[in-house]
Amino acid sequence: MVDVLIGLQWGDEGKGKIVDFLAANYDIIARFQGGPNAGHTLYVKGEKVVLHTIPSGVFHPHCLNLIGNGVVIDPVILQKEIAKVSALQPDMLSRLFVSHRAHLILPTHRALDAASEAAKGKAKIGSTLKGIGPAYMDKTGRNGLRVGDVLRPDFTQRYASIKGKHVQMLQQYDEVPDWEAWEHEFMQSLTALKSLNIVNAEYWLDRALSEGKQILAEGAQGSMLDIDFGTYPFVTSSNTITAGVCAGLGIAPSRIGEVFGITKAYCTRVGGGPFPTELEDETGEALRQAGGEFGATTGRPRRCGWMDLVALRYAVMLSGVTKLIMTKTDVLDSFSPLKVAVAYERQGQQSREMPYELNDAELAPVYHEFRGWTETPVSKCQDATQLPKGFIEFARYIEQYLGAEIAYVSNGTAREQLLGLKKPEI
Ligand code: GDP
Ligand code: IMO
Ligand code: MG
Repeated sequence: MVDVLIGLQWGDEGKGKIVDFLAANYDIIARFQGGPNAGHTLYVKGEKVVLHTIPSGVFHPHCLNLIGNGVVIDPVILQKEIAKVSALQPDMLSRLFVSHRAHLILPTHRALDAASEAAKGKAKIGSTLKGIGPAYMDKTGRNGLRVGDVLRPDFTQRYASIKGKHVQMLQQYDEVPDWEAWEHEFMQSLTALKSLNIVNAEYWLDRALSEGKQILAEGAQGSMLDIDFGTYPFVTSSNTITAGVCAGLGIAPSRIGEVFGITKAYCTRVGGGPFPTELEDETGEALRQAGGEFGATTGRPRRCGWMDLVALRYAVMLSGVTKLIMTKTDVLDSFSPLKVAVAYERQGQQSREMPYELNDAELAPVYHEFRGWTETPVSKCQDATQLPKGFIEFARYIEQYLGAEIAYVSNGTAREQLLGLKKPEI
């Protein structure tokens, strides 16, 4: 079966750390969507590593790692990432596989991303400026270049043709970065790309499954950034929910097994768009400082707020989450009281459903309050039996509201700082 691990909020839930932990139980870790907009942080022998395109199973010598067809690849970023990871894990290249159907991010995609964001002014999405939107636009617009195209003899002509289109598009913008300066390293990186294990990934995965191999699909971004169900247009350009796994890897829905949904014990968002439980006060600032909430890809300060159970319940429903994993619980150690949103109120009416427009000024979250667990820090707990009563109350309330059990509680950045509440059968 193919198990799935996805973020349930606006990204940065701690997916990288959890995949790195769970990878011990899997033969293959596969990315199915997104691209270098992702920043997945893991600690390898105490050293911080941020992965953008490479799956987070790469530090386990038994794990194969696949970049699936649903991912958009910037070969320059991938090459740099490979160099960094190889220095720590010399055998990684032999365990890295890339689908020949994955689309490429070109220098002009990055330029279009930047130009379009600049032109939007205050209404900008807050994109990571990695060219994600334009690359997916070319994919669905049937203009894109794929990894397999790099191996074709007419690649240069194909590249020139799409570049020509982009140059025309860029002419409508006032502010355009000097993308030609990026073209040289892009062309150079193609040699490294060609030398990777490029595979017909859907057959490769099918064979692995028939041999009884265990596969974990690693999501990027989060459910509220999903192109269809997120806070549109303040979203990314791919399906970040479980449905994305089937199209992004070529996996039949009947082969999906466990779905791990990751949520922080509070909530963050980076970039623009609605965030009903956002705290723009000293509590929000305290969360940012305690949680080290600065973007792993862009370094931008993350917006912070309370956990939003309305949004989480929606995400659990959309993806069929079977096991929850709650991260960054230690960050709440010194907070009392704690709040979670349990409904949205608009014109005196309460609802537990996600509305069409989340950025409605009249919409206000309704909170449930907890006293917290300031007397016994969760960060000090070595196993689940040591968790304070205040924390257990918080966790049980969330499980009940969401209708899914919390399998693990993460209480620090290290791989082993994970307490199994109920051990999932993998
Ligand atoms: P991802 O994009 O979902 O992989 O998450 P990021 O790596 O962007 O952001 C999560 C951040 O939280 C990283 O800096 C992690 O090292 C850190 N982190 C993960 N789990 C925990 C936890 O349980 N406690 C604390 N304090 N930090 C955590
Ligand atoms: P991981 O995998 C948090 C956000 C951007 C912006 C919006 C669109 O680390 O959780 P894009 O570059 O995709 O066009 O940006 O989505 N965003 C993320 N926020 N974590 C991420 O990835 C993100 N990837 C994109 O900030 O608001
Ligand atoms: Mg991240």
